[in-house]
Amino acid sequence: MSVSDLFKPLTLSHGPEMRNRFMMAPLTNQQSEHDGSASVFDQDWIRQLAQSDYALIQTSATTVEAGAKAFERQLGIHSDAHVPGLIEMSTSIREGGGLSAVQLHHAGHRARPDLGGIPAPASSSTVPGVKALTTEQVKRIRDSFIAAAKRAERAGFDGVALHGAFGWILSEFMSPLLNDRTDEYGGSIENRARLTIEVIEGIRRACGPDFQIGWRLSVERYGLRLEELREVTAEILDQELIDYLDLALWDSAQIVQEGAFRGKTMLSVFTDLPRKDVRVGAAGKIMSARRAGQLLDEGCDFVVIGRAGILQRDFPRQVRANPLYDSPKLPVTAQYLRTGGLSERFINYMRGWHSIVY
Ligand SMILES: Cc1cc2nc3c(=O)[nH]c(=O)nc-3n(C[C@H](O)[C@H](O)[C@H](O)COP(=O)(O)O)c2cc1C
Repeated sequence: MSVSDLFKPLTLSHGPEMRNRFMMAPLTNQQSEHDGSASVFDQDWIRQLAQSDYALIQTSATTVEAGAKAFERQLGIHSDAHVPGLIEMSTSIREGGGLSAVQLHHAGHRARPDLGGIPAPASSSTVPGVKALTTEQVKRIRDSFIAAAKRAERAGFDGVALHGAFGWILSEFMSPLLNDRTDEYGGSIENRARLTIEVIEGIRRACGPDFQIGWRLSVERYGLRLEELREVTAEILDQELIDYLDLALWDSAQIVQEGAFRGKTMLSVFTDLPRKDVRVGAAGKIMSARRAGQLLDEGCDFVVIGRAGILQRDFPRQVRANPLYDSPKLPVTAQYLRTGGLSERFINYMRGWHSIVY
């Protein structure tokens, strides 16, 4: 396949098709109001993305409950008061011709009390002095994800993307290290996956027939087991519970270091699975037109762009104009990002990241 294949449309099981193969990754930017409402800076960022030819744009990780919070100035979707700001976001994206998804997030055991978060661990041993969620509390959180999806639908989004990565609550429940529950949400991998599956099925039931559901998965750290996650993914793909799987790899070329799949690319462990009508994409150092095109050859239906889109908002356009396009090299100066249109809040947040801003 060639770079030009990145510009072929892609149908999804529900709702409108993707106009090309570029998806904008969820990117926390800590520029919302303290109550989770979208700020003028959020709107400005989304407008910039909306005008950049992505097929689908995910919002930053967005809290499904007030207590779900992990970041200062995190975007929220846990209250109807958030809806007007979200409507403005979805409208900008639609006007730019793209599809939109709110990334639904609950920080689980890593919710930050200093920001109003309420740590919600799967096990009693994870956070000193904090008891594991009761079964009723787990069901409440499940229902909060579903209520948030309905709010996203009301706010005009084409869908939601579930944050099932990086040890946040859905990922936490999958982990045998972080989940020692003895109720129906712990024990076997089937039980540990139950929260994710119930959230997906609940959203499917609650929202309209065109509503799109994505699921973001990561497989590293937090005691996660690749073999188990592959099993869960196989089931989700086989039952076509979602529209797209977004594999959150830090490096899309990553090689599995241990276990049954040692020596294979992490990506192939998932792209080798039968996927029926579910679309599969990946994030991780996609910093050039060539690498984006290669990922289609490696079995991806779409590519998920993170840092390359921060450096150059209109990455898809750059690729269209130049099949040899290479992203600027990291790190960059704050002035570079400022000139590119990023807010001071966003730039300050990225100072905490390894090798983005000098
Ligand atoms: C500044 C920044 C913020 C991020 N915020 C989120 C987030 O809110 N949700 C999430 O799932 N991933 C988040 N990520 C991870 C990205 O979505 C992406 O998976 C990762 O950066 C790898 O892609 P890249 O190499 O193209 O940047 C963030 C990454 C960066 C650099």
